[in-house]
Amino acid sequence: MKGSRSPSVQMPVLSGASGGDIAESLASILEMDYVQLESRRFPDGEAYVKVPSEAIESLRSEAVVLVSNTYPDSGIMQTVLLLGAINDVRRGDLSNFKGEGEQQMDDVGPGVILAIPYYGYARQDKRFSPGEAISARVIADVLAESCDGIVILDLHSLDVLEGMSLPIEFVSSMPEIADNLHNYVAPDFILSPDRGAISRASEVAGLIGCEFSYLEKTRIDAHTIEHTPKDLDVSGKVVAIVDDMISTGGTICRASDALRRQGAKEIHAACTHGLFTGGALSRLANHVDGIHTTDSLPNPRANVSAAPALARGVRKLME
Ligand code: R5P
Repeated sequence: MKGSRSPSVQMPVLSGASGGDIAESLASILEMDYVQLESRRFPDGEAYVKVPSEAIESLRSEAVVLVSNTYPDSGIMQTVLLLGAINDVRRGDLSNFKGEGEQQMDDVGPGVILAIPYYGYARQDKRFSPGEAISARVIADVLAESCDGIVILDLHSLDVLEGMSLPIEFVSSMPEIADNLHNYVAPDFILSPDRGAISRASEVAGLIGCEFSYLEKTRIDAHTIEHTPKDLDVSGKVVAIVDDMISTGGTICRASDALRRQGAKEIHAACTHGLFTGGALSRLANHVDGIHTTDSLPNPRANVSAAPALARGVRKLME
């Protein structure tokens, strides 16, 4: 990624008001500066963002990394507006209606990387019935207009972003989740609660060096799932169920029921994205002995940093 950079200016990792913790950790891993951009809401709920004047020079460096989630919906709007403000600054367009300050600078060229810890709408990745929007793709197409590369952490399914016009690095926190489970849980057995999580969960099992199996899941509706009965060799064992995300907790609760019936001694749930919607945490408390997630979304069970995985992606894009 090219651009002009004065030797005194550090490349920055940026965030709006949310995402600051991950952005700071990412900056420290990448040995870049962390710069918080202004973001707040008007009384009617609309978003407002601004690049503070003292940050303008650093944003015009060789490359910048914006850390921003596309969740909840307000996160999408904030991401789009932040990218717009960053691009204006990098293009040198600082004109304002009052005509104050420097109006036009050189265009420093491309070099805006968007790092997305949690990519919202990832599960609407197909047209399940005629006329539906493929939401995951629609959002990517909008974001692609305003950045030069994207890093996405543990995207539900990668196929939906095939053939995009810009480089995308898909990264995973499974190595860090494996470390966490190994150090604090020491599982004997890793279970994938459905086919979709097999590659992630088996990676964790491989890194820890323990047994692995998976369940066949059928989703009846957003709140109801069923698992096909399967014999699992878990009697007396410590088991960790590994998934990309936990939303209502239904998938984990049903998987833990199957494990308990077959004699599992201790059950933990681990995932990258802890959404925990609609009382999921209290439901899970009755089913599992521990919950482990990254901080891709702020949640009270986050005990793994998403920053190392994002750093791997940013480094690859900058190579
Ligand atoms: C679906 O395929 C995902 O990988 C998760 O298993 C699912 O989104 C979890 O949702 P819930 O916690 O509502 O069962």
